[in-house]
Amino acid sequence: MKTNNSIDAVTQHLRALAGAEAPGARLPSVRDLMRDLHVSPVTVQAALERLSSEGVVEARPGQGTFARGPAKVPPPADLGWQSVALGAGRVVTDGLSSLLVMPRPGTRPLNLGYLPEELQATALLSIAAGRALRRPGVWGRMPIEGLEALRAWFAAASGFSAHEVTICPGTQAANAAAFRALAGSGDALLIESPTYSGAIVGARAAGLRLVPVPTDEDGVRPDLLEDAFRRSGARLFYCQPTYANPTGAVLSRTRRAEVLAVVRRAGAFLIEDDWARDFGLDGDPPPPLAPAENDGHVVYVRSLTKCAAPGLRIGAICARGAALERLRATRLVEDFSVPGIMQETALHLVTSPSWERHLRVLRAELRRRRDRLAAAVLRHPGLGTVNEPPGGLHLWLRLPPGVSDAAVAAEAARRNVLVSAGQHWFPAEASDPYLRLSFAASQPDWIEEAAATLAAIVAEEVARVG
Ligand SMILES: Cc1ncc(COP(=O)(O)O)c(C=O)c1O
Repeated sequence: MKTNNSIDAVTQHLRALAGAEAPGARLPSVRDLMRDLHVSPVTVQAALERLSSEGVVEARPGQGTFARGPAKVPPPADLGWQSVALGAGRVVTDGLSSLLVMPRPGTRPLNLGYLPEELQATALLSIAAGRALRRPGVWGRMPIEGLEALRAWFAAASGFSAHEVTICPGTQAANAAAFRALAGSGDALLIESPTYSGAIVGARAAGLRLVPVPTDEDGVRPDLLEDAFRRSGARLFYCQPTYANPTGAVLSRTRRAEVLAVVRRAGAFLIEDDWARDFGLDGDPPPPLAPAENDGHVVYVRSLTKCAAPGLRIGAICARGAALERLRATRLVEDFSVPGIMQETALHLVTSPSWERHLRVLRAELRRRRDRLAAAVLRHPGLGTVNEPPGGLHLWLRLPPGVSDAAVAAEAARRNVLVSAGQHWFPAEASDPYLRLSFAASQPDWIEEAAATLAAIVAEEVARVG
């Protein structure tokens, strides 16, 4: 089987062999490696490609693979001048970059924001990518707004028409484009608190002034939203109405209408980030806000990275009127367009007769994983209180008062349990200490032990803070 773990192991083995040999020495053949290490030719090939790109080995067609000798280490460069040239305006990515770190083998990744490999639509994607490769013109120029048929697919679910859809490389890119296109540097952005850390860092990088609006189990509070619009003069509100990351909250029916009314009265835009539309675990999600609104106040974003695979960086942003023009112009200056091969693959995937089945099977498995993680957490009342999200990928655990979420997350990482500290999910001060626990990658053979590890760390922290 080709997994990243087995490729890593073969790479390590070959690296050691090549390092022990003189430059030019022949290394074992693919066949010998397959036999000795009990791995597939694809795994051996992947390891050889890695080492070849690093210059550790040289593959000579028809002759075999040879050691290249130790790489020449260049003298250390003096990059001090860059600090002077760049000044202090660094892009702060705290919280987001730690989420995207690749987990080390053996760690328990309860911080994953995407599907783990075994739940991704890998087989369907292989078929779709094969078909995409055979499409005439797939390597040609793409329209900036994206493939017509793929736009029509995104439009169908969101109440927009295909000409109002622009294909983007994922929701992060869509949100970032919206922050830049619909507001100017220094403008206020209303943002739920807590909310997705990638939106927080994206908005800050666009120079926006973040104004947090509190949420509860029914989503954002319309009374405080109205107040925030009035005080800040904001014209933009970033919102996750359905299975919000990290709380799992769903904006209630009555609040949906109220929020739209508040946004209309403020003459503002609402960016609806519908990242988890396919992750309704206890029944269907409510429809998006977008179809309930016709006057161009809602800008809708959605992507396939979550429900298919993180490497399928395809999403869409939908808008009307001048907002659509500005978004297209922003996308154009940033990116031109999303590669055709990726768009064609996405189109073949979502129109495949097996796509709905993939989603059904996926939801059933995610439900099992959510329930298992929740049960494991509930066995340790000292951990605090945990929500019961009807969808999404995460549990939101409120730790006992006074405990440092950052200290718990750091100690858990030292003990190989990866979790996300709640403070990264607040645009300002956190209301309480929280951990975000992702159930997507949780496994029955370690979940109890991971929960017990967290409980032990929290108990130590509680004792320490008294
Ligand atoms: C709420 C939310 N929006 C956007 C994103 C970014 O997703 P994508 O991979 O589509 O860029 C994420 C990823 O975690 C998310 O949770």
